Amino acid sequence: MQLKRVFSGIQPTGDIHLGNYLGAVKNWVDREKEYDNVFCVVNSHAITIPQDPKVLREKTYELCAMLLACGLKDSTLFIQSEVQEHTSLGWLLTCITPMGDLNRMTQFKDKSQKNPKNILAGLFNYPNLMSADILLYKSHYVPVGEDQKQHIELARDTAIRFNRDFGETFIVPEPLIQKEGARIMGLDDPTKKMSKSSGVDKPNHLIALLDTPEVILKKCKKATTDSENKILFDKDRAGIYNLLTIYQCLSGDSKENIESEFANKGYGEFKVALADLIIEKLKPIRESYLKLIDDKSHLESILKSGANKAREIAEKTYKEAKEKMGLI
Ligand code: TYM
Repeated sequence: MQLKRVFSGIQPTGDIHLGNYLGAVKNWVDREKEYDNVFCVVNSHAITIPQDPKVLREKTYELCAMLLACGLKDSTLFIQSEVQEHTSLGWLLTCITPMGDLNRMTQFKDKSQKNPKNILAGLFNYPNLMSADILLYKSHYVPVGEDQKQHIELARDTAIRFNRDFGETFIVPEPLIQKEGARIMGLDDPTKKMSKSSGVDKPNHLIALLDTPEVILKKCKKATTDSENKILFDKDRAGIYNLLTIYQCLSGDSKENIESEFANKGYGEFKVALADLIIEKLKPIRESYLKLIDDKSHLESILKSGANKAREIAEKTYKEAKEKMGLI
């Protein structure tokens, strides 16, 4: 039986954190056997914000090692810039996408507000490159966190438009968004999404997958809660709700069981239990990562074979799309 194809990507900027893990990567790993998976470290997306080239190179390899350390085994894993069809198809899609559609993207608005004096055209066009990533592999599903939903809707619209104007070519992809953990919030401010960029100047904002046990405990203890001291999944109390969600995703336990486990306990005790759970779950990932990053040639050979497999599919789709548009 032919498995349905999954595609997803992650940017090699900042430190990969619990939000990325629970919203996306953990689900890629947990459901790896159900699909034909293609995962990509999207370095060409990263340069839509200015990057230090040396740091970007290092972070790209580190993130690849981290994805393997998280447990990916049988997926095609590669670096985006190794398969040039991503940018090539991105251009074709740019030529059929109205500016108005890109103007609506909330991620563009958020990111451009952070640096209003230097808004790059690449950032505006970012969603077209993302559509190209997905459509190149004729992907059925795209497992992501909630913040990427709007971009996937655009990729769907683009696929429908291309198929209508040039003939059936692309599969219209569907997002796979978890019920729990699709939007993990910052530990310092539970009204803001946990993000790599906020983690740069706010030390208690995120838990990075490579944080040491001491740092994890410290960050959990400092996490913002409220004065009610009741451990319940109450969406109106964003701080404790967020911590409980992290606990639920990592333990795999039900909301009811977790609430009864902590029924007579205070926030202090819960925060230590949460830190212990995070430390326990991240320990094997950290250990495996340290081995993988130490053997660069092994890592490079995995990535080379991933890129070769990806390229085989990408070349075919790009050729088909290009010819349908009348390009020689
Ligand atoms: P990126 O690198 O920002 O994030 C990688 C994945 O992590 C998810 N995520 C979160 N989930 C839950 N809570 C959070 N606080 C949180 N923060 C991030 C993201 O939703 C994402 O799934 N544009 C994408 C990368 C990309 C892509 C693609 C994804 C490029 N091409 C094609 C899917 C398909 C991005 O910037 O993800």
